[in-house]
Amino acid sequence: MEKVKLDLEKYAAISRQAAAEGCVLLRNEKQALPIKKGEKVSVFGRIQFDYYKSGTGSGGLVNTEYVVGILDALKLSDELVLNQELIDTYEEWLEDNPFDHGEGWAQEPWTQKEMPVSAELAQKSAADSDLAVVILGRTAGEDKDNSATKGSYLLTDTEEEMLASVSEAFDRVAVVLNVGNIIDMKWVDKYQPEAVLYAWHGGMEGGNGTVDVLTGKVNPSGKLSDTIAVDISDYPSMDDFGNKDTLIYKEDIYVGYRYFETAAKDRVIYPFGYGLSYTEFEIDILSFEEGEDSLTVELEVKNTGDLAGKEVVQVYAAKPLGKLGKAARTLEAFAKTNLLEPGQSQKLSLSFRKEQLASYDDSGITGHKSSYVMEAGEYKIYAGSDVRKAELAGSFEIDSLEVIKELKEACAPVESFRRLKVDSDGRMTEEEVPERTIDLDQRIAAKRPEAIPSTGDQGIKLKDVYQEKASLEDFIAQLSDQDLACLMRGEGMNSPRVTPGTAGAFGGVSENLTDFGIPAACCADGPSGIRMDCGTTAFSLPNGTSLACTFNLDLVAKLFDLMGQELLANQIETILGPGMNIHRTPLNGRNFEYFSEDPLLTGKMAAVQLRAMNKYKVTGTIKHYVANNQEAHRHDVNSVVSERALREIYLKGFEIAVKEGEAASIMSTYGGLNGIWTAGNYDLLTTILREEWGFDGIVMTDWWARINEEGEKARKGNTIPMVRAQNDLYMVCENPEENSCEDNTLKGLAEGKITRGELQRNAANILKFIMDSAVMERDLSGTGEESDAAESAEEPVNVMEYYDLTELDAIDLSEVDTSKGESVVFGIIRGERGIYKLKLELKASGGEVAQVPVSLFVNNKLDSTITINGTGEWQTVEKEISLWSKNNYIKLYFAQSGMELGRMTFEFEKEIESN
Ligand code: BGC
Repeated sequence: MEKVKLDLEKYAAISRQAAAEGCVLLRNEKQALPIKKGEKVSVFGRIQFDYYKSGTGSGGLVNTEYVVGILDALKLSDELVLNQELIDTYEEWLEDNPFDHGEGWAQEPWTQKEMPVSAELAQKSAADSDLAVVILGRTAGEDKDNSATKGSYLLTDTEEEMLASVSEAFDRVAVVLNVGNIIDMKWVDKYQPEAVLYAWHGGMEGGNGTVDVLTGKVNPSGKLSDTIAVDISDYPSMDDFGNKDTLIYKEDIYVGYRYFETAAKDRVIYPFGYGLSYTEFEIDILSFEEGEDSLTVELEVKNTGDLAGKEVVQVYAAKPLGKLGKAARTLEAFAKTNLLEPGQSQKLSLSFRKEQLASYDDSGITGHKSSYVMEAGEYKIYAGSDVRKAELAGSFEIDSLEVIKELKEACAPVESFRRLKVDSDGRMTEEEVPERTIDLDQRIAAKRPEAIPSTGDQGIKLKDVYQEKASLEDFIAQLSDQDLACLMRGEGMNSPRVTPGTAGAFGGVSENLTDFGIPAACCADGPSGIRMDCGTTAFSLPNGTSLACTFNLDLVAKLFDLMGQELLANQIETILGPGMNIHRTPLNGRNFEYFSEDPLLTGKMAAVQLRAMNKYKVTGTIKHYVANNQEAHRHDVNSVVSERALREIYLKGFEIAVKEGEAASIMSTYGGLNGIWTAGNYDLLTTILREEWGFDGIVMTDWWARINEEGEKARKGNTIPMVRAQNDLYMVCENPEENSCEDNTLKGLAEGKITRGELQRNAANILKFIMDSAVMERDLSGTGEESDAAESAEEPVNVMEYYDLTELDAIDLSEVDTSKGESVVFGIIRGERGIYKLKLELKASGGEVAQVPVSLFVNNKLDSTITINGTGEWQTVEKEISLWSKNNYIKLYFAQSGMELGRMTFEFEKEIESN
C-alpha cells in the first residue's frame, strides 16, 4: 500500500461540495435565489450563529478544528452585503439567551429558543435590504426521537411569528432549513416564502456549502431522499411510532413513496427525488433496451436555461400487480450529470439487472414460497427527474411467472397481524401476514460447525498464518476455551490498547491473546466523522441524509476515500458507520445518520463509501442491522415485520452493501426482530447474511446490547444465543480478561448450549478480519517484521500516556509545558467505579493580582476552570469527579502562561448511585 498524506484542503473542498450538492431547493418563486452580486441580505433566526453540523449522540460527537456556520460563510462571501444592524440586534439578544446544550447524554433540546421578530423589526430590516434569509434549525439524535410537536417536527409559535412578519415585510424571502430530517412543511403554503432550501446538517464545512448554493456559486442539484407528505399522520408507519414493546410494520413494503405513489398521491407536497435548480433541464429518453439479464435506458439531459448546473436522472419500475401486489413505483437506478453549461447536453446510460425487479413471495401465493419471483405481465420502466415526473421509457412482457431465486424462509414473524396489500385491481387492502413455518432450533442444530480438535499452544503466532506459514485452523486449534470466550469480547469504551477516545478494541484484548500475536483492532464512531472522546480533532462530514440527497456516488466515493486515509492515519480499522436504517418515519431521531426511505439509494451510498475506505485496509461497520427505526425504547422494542418487507425494504440496502460494497463489518441492533433480539438472531446473522449473501466478515453487537433466547426477555451479557447466531463480538467489556461484562459464554459451553466449534467459527471470522486490516501489518512493523504497508500512515498517531490508579499514588505533572495555549492530555485507569476526589498541586508566578487559569476537562467535558493568583505559593485544589468507565481522559488547558504543576492524585470517595 502506498504512503498517504491526508490532504485537509482537499477534504474541506470535497466536503463543502458534498454539503452544497446535498442542498435541496424545494421552491424558488420570482427567482428569489440565488442572491445577486452586491445585494443586501437580512438574516433572521438564531441558528445563523448556532449552526448544527450534525445531530446529537454517538453519530455527532466529532471534535473539530472549526465549524463554518451559515452566517460565518455569508460573512466570508464578497458577493453580498449583510444587514449588520440586524446581526447586532441578534448578538445582543443572544447574550441573554445562550445556546442551551442540556445537561448530559441526549438532553440537548431539539430546538433552541428563537428571538421574537416583530413586524417593526422585519419592516425596518426590509427597508434597506434586498432579501431576507430565514434560518430554521432542528436537531435530534441517538436516544432521542423527534416528535410531532412544536419545536420538533412542527415549527414553534415564535418561528411562525418570525415567518409571518418577515414574509409580510419582504418581497423576497428564502427559508433555509438546517435540520437533520424532514420537518412539517405546511407553513410554506401559509407564509408563501419565495424560496425554501433544505440544507440539512452539513458537517464542519456545511455553512460554506449552503452559502455556495445561496449565492449561486453552486447551482443546487440535490434531490429529496424522502417523500414530504402534507401531514405526519399521512405516513402509514406513524400509528405505532414510539410504542414501548412492539412495533407492527403493518405498512409492509409500502414505505415512503412506495406508499404515497400507490395509495395517497394527493397527500404529497414534495415527492421523492424532487429538487429544483436555478436552471432548466430537458430530459429526452433516447432508447430502452431489454438485454438478456439487464435493462438499459439511454437519455439525453440538456441544460436549457442560463446557468451551468447538474441534473439527477432517476429510473423507476412499475411491475405487474400479480398475486403479490406491487408498489406503483420502485427506484431501480439513478445518475447525475456532469456540470452542464447552458445549452450543453449529456447522454447517460442507466443499466440495471432485470432480476432487481423480482418480488419476494413470503406466503407461497405464487406457488413459490420463499422465492424471489417475477410475476407475469407488463413491466414498465420510467425515467425522469423525480418519482412523479418520470415518464415511460419502455416496457417488456413476461408471459409466465419466472422464479429468480429460491431461498429459505428466514426471520418470519411469529405473531399474526394484518399488513397492507395492493389487490389485483390496484386497490390498497389488507391481508394476514404469513407466519413462521420452520423449526429454528432444528435448523441451528443441523448446521453446527465441527470443532477443530484442540492442540494447546504449538507456538504458532497469528503472523505465521498471515504469512501463510501455518493454517488458520492450526492456529485456532491452540486457543483454549477461555481464550476463545475472551476473543469474543470487545474492550471499551476508551480502551488503552487502541487509539485514545474511541469506542472499542477487539482481537488482542487479553495477555494470552496478545501473546498469540493477535493485535488489538480499533473501532470508532461514526458515521460522519471520527469520534475521539479525548479531544482529538477529526473531520466532520455532511450527514447521511445530506449525502443521499446529492445522488452523487462519485462525489461520495471521493469523500470516503479521504475518510479511509483519515482512519488509517488514526490507526482505526473501522468507523462505526455508515448508518443504513430506512427512514420508516420522519421522526426517528437518528434519521440524520441514515440515508433515505429507499433501500436502493441507501445501499448504493453505503457501497461506494465502503469501497472507497476498503482500499486503505480500513472499512466501515454498516449499522444497525436491522430495523433500528425508532430510538425510544430501543433496547426493549420488538419490530414485527413480514419477510417480504424485510427482504425488499429493510434488508435490501445491507444486501447491496455486502454484495457491491464488500462490507466486512456489521453492527446488529439493540432491539428485537420478530421476537429474537438481533444480536442473537441466527436467521438474520447466519442464514441470510452469511449463507445467502456470502458475507464473511465480522458482526458486532451494539454497545452493551441485550440478547435473548426466543420467548425470553433479552438481557446484557447473554452471549449464548449471540455465539450461536454468529454475532462474533460482544461490545463492550471493561475488562475482557476477567469477563467483567459477566457473559455466559463459558457457562453455555459447559452446559452444551453452544459448542467449541461455534466459538472457533466466530474466532475465525474475527481473525480473518484482523488479518485483512491495516492493524496486522502495523503490528508486524512493531516487531521488525517485513511489512510493505507498515509505514502507510504518515500523520502522527495519537499516543497517550495512561496511568493506572490502582498501581500508583500520584501523577507527576511537573514537566508539563504550561505555556499559553498548550494543553496536556493523559489517560487514567480507575479502580472501582465511583466518585473520586481529584487533587492538583499548582502554583503561579506574576504577583498577587495575576490571574492564571487552567481548565480541567474530564472525558472531553469541561469540569472547571481553576484560576489562581501568582503568589508563587504551592496550593492544592480539590475537585469531585465521577469516573464511570474504566478508562478516562484528563485534559488540562493553559489559557495563560505562568503556572507550575506538581502532583495530581485521586482518592476514591463513594460509589456512583445508579438510577
Ligand atoms: C450506538 C451505536 C454506536 C455505539 C458506540 C451505541 O449507543 O447505537 O450506533 O456506534 O453506541 O458508540
